[in-house]
Amino acid sequence: MPDVAPHIDPALLDAARNVAAAAMPADLGPLLDRYRRSLAAIGGDGSYKRFPAAAVVLQEELLARFGGDAFAAAHAALMVEAIADFAARAPAEGYPAAILTEFERVFARILAKIAAADWTGYAGPDDRLWKDFGLALQRVFPASAWVVTPDAGYDRGFLLKGGIGQFLTALPYMRGNDHWLTCNLNEFEKHRFNEAGFRDLVRLLADVLRARPRLNGLFLGASWLYSPMLPTISPRLDFHRRLALPGGARIFFVQPGGADSMALIASETRRRAFAEGRYRPDDYILIWRRGALIAWADAQKA
Ligand SMILES: CC(C)(COP(=O)(O)OP(=O)(O)OC[C@H]1O[C@@H](n2cnc3c(N)ncnc32)[C@H](O)[C@@H]1OP(=O)(O)O)[C@@H](O)C(=O)NCCC(=O)NCCS
Repeated sequence: MPDVAPHIDPALLDAARNVAAAAMPADLGPLLDRYRRSLAAIGGDGSYKRFPAAAVVLQEELLARFGGDAFAAAHAALMVEAIADFAARAPAEGYPAAILTEFERVFARILAKIAAADWTGYAGPDDRLWKDFGLALQRVFPASAWVVTPDAGYDRGFLLKGGIGQFLTALPYMRGNDHWLTCNLNEFEKHRFNEAGFRDLVRLLADVLRARPRLNGLFLGASWLYSPMLPTISPRLDFHRRLALPGGARIFFVQPGGADSMALIASETRRRAFAEGRYRPDDYILIWRRGALIAWADAQKA
C-alpha cells in the first residue's frame, strides 16, 4: 500500500513538542485552546496568510498579551500537533510519493528549528511563519524552494493590459482561469531558488498534475521575475523563463512596476538601473498549461 503520510522522526517530534510547551507561559493555555478552535476548519485552501476574522483577533491578543516569543512558541506547538496529525488532515486524493518526500524534508527542517527554539521569522505575523504554518496545516504543499497553492485562480485583467497583440495571443492560450497550481518562494528554502531548484519544482508539479486531471497547469506571478528584461538586468534569476518558454509556457504583461516594486528590495544593481531609467520592474504572469508542462518534465527524464 502506498504511503499516506511522510515519515517523521518520533524523537525529533517529541523534542520539538517539549521545547514549544516549555516556551509557552502557563496562563496561555485557554487562549491557545480558543485559537486552535478558530483554526479547525482550515486546510487545503492555499490562502496561507489569510485567517478567519476570529483567528486574527486571537493572534493580535496573543501577541499583545504574551509577546513575540510566546507567539512563536504557540504556533510551534500548533505546527507540531498538525504535523503529527498529517494523515487526518491530508486531502482524500492524497499526494504523489515525491510530494510526501518533500513534506518529510520540510517537516524535518521545521521540527529541528522548533527543537532549537529558533524563533527567527516566527515571532509575529510574518510571511515566513505563515508559509511554514501553511505547510504544517496542509493549506499549501512543499516543492523545492516553493510552497504550492493546490487550486488557485488568476485574474484575467491582464488580457486588456498588453495591447491587442497580447489579447490575441493570450485568449486561445488560456483555459478557464480557475483550477491552477501556483507557487510562492519560501524564504527558509531560498538556497534552492535557482535553476536546479526550478527543474525540481516542475518535475514535482508534473507528478501532481498527472494525479489531479482537473487542474489546468501552473501559473506564476504576477512578478518582476518573469519580465523579458531579466536576461539583461539579472541574468542569474532568469531561469524560469529560460526553461519554461521553450517548454511551451507563455508570459503576459500585467502591470508597470515602480519605486515600490519588490525587484528593488534586494539588489543594488536593479536599484541603480531603475534610478538611471535603464530598468522598469514590470510585472508579468507566466502560464504553463498542464500538457506542455508534463511533456517538459517527461523529456527531462528521457
Ligand atoms: C527573489 C530573491 C529572493 C532573489 O534573491 P537572490 O537569489 O539573492 O538574487 P538577487 O538578484 O535579488 O540578489 C541580490 C544581491 O545578492 C547578492 N547575490 C545574490 N546572489 C549572488 C551570487 N550568486 N553571487 C554573488 N552575489 C550574489 C548580490 O549582491 C545581489 O545584488 P546585485 O544585484 O546588486 O548584485 C530576492 O531578490 C528577494 O528577496 N527579493 C524581494 C522579494 C521578492 O521579490 N520576491 C519574489 C516574489 S514576487
